[in-house]
Amino acid sequence: MNMSRRKFVRGAALGLAAGAAAARAQGVPEQGEMPLVVGTWPFSKFSTDAALKILLDGGPILDAVERGIWLTEDAAPEKSVGLGGRPNAAGFVQLDACIMFGPGHKAGSVAALEGIRHPISAARRVMEKSTHVMLAGEGARVFALEQGLESIPVDDRELYEKWRQTRSAQPPKKPGNHDTIALLALGADGTIAGGCSTSGLAGKLPGRVGDSPILGSGLYVDNDVGAAGATGVGENVMRYCATFMIVEFMRQGLAPHEAIVKVIQRIIQSERRDDLHINFIALDKHGRYGAAGTDGNFKYAVATPGKSLVLNNPGL
Ligand code: GLY
Repeated sequence: MNMSRRKFVRGAALGLAAGAAAARAQGVPEQGEMPLVVGTWPFSKFSTDAALKILLDGGPILDAVERGIWLTEDAAPEKSVGLGGRPNAAGFVQLDACIMFGPGHKAGSVAALEGIRHPISAARRVMEKSTHVMLAGEGARVFALEQGLESIPVDDRELYEKWRQTRSAQPPKKPGNHDTIALLALGADGTIAGGCSTSGLAGKLPGRVGDSPILGSGLYVDNDVGAAGATGVGENVMRYCATFMIVEFMRQGLAPHEAIVKVIQRIIQSERRDDLHINFIALDKHGRYGAAGTDGNFKYAVATPGKSLVLNNPGL
């Protein structure tokens, strides 16, 4: 091994040790286990556990991400994911989602999608079955239908409302709240993938697109480095390409939590206010993970072969 390579390897080892110490100081359990799945908010625990099981059973990492997110898209009230999520100002639910696959830097995304049960699957089909990266609105819906994805008849208001009530029995406690799912997965072979799905900001203008389907904002994956995902007020994430920046700081050697904190601090410094409602998760190719956000109640879920946990926002 030549001198510069020796230095690089030693530097990387020191970086890992420093990252582990920082993680321990933040109360984050031991890191480095693979496969690894990390998701935003406690409700993603079903998704992280399901995704991990698919990985442990030898399933494809994209199936782990997609099927994991299906559970949250189909699940219960008080969050803004899936057709049971929060309607826009016109009373309709418009969904945003994206998916990224590290090898080949592949991505697919849908925005302002109506009436499709699994927007994450629509995003995956855009990635795998079209020559495009992003489809929006009616075009995205028609594409999803052509791909055979399940639809819920939003044109029939009465039927749709009846269906929605069964999915979302109560109105959200905080109308402005954002509970997007971002789910990041690292396979035992080092492959990284991620997905993001949301109904976005409650009461948003029809046609409003948030950070979740925007690559580098709601989600970013780089197979050489790691991945990051966002939840919160999309407008405050997408103006900074925040998840891209987190991954780039990890590329420079920061541990996931350190990279997130650095990005949030930069955004706070620029905005000069603290009511940003931006929260992030990240993992790197070494199996380290982290999270932080401006919302004290932000929690995240982690699943590895040795643990399945919901962890608190360790703060900035
Ligand atoms: N982060 C989701 C949204 O703002 O739409």
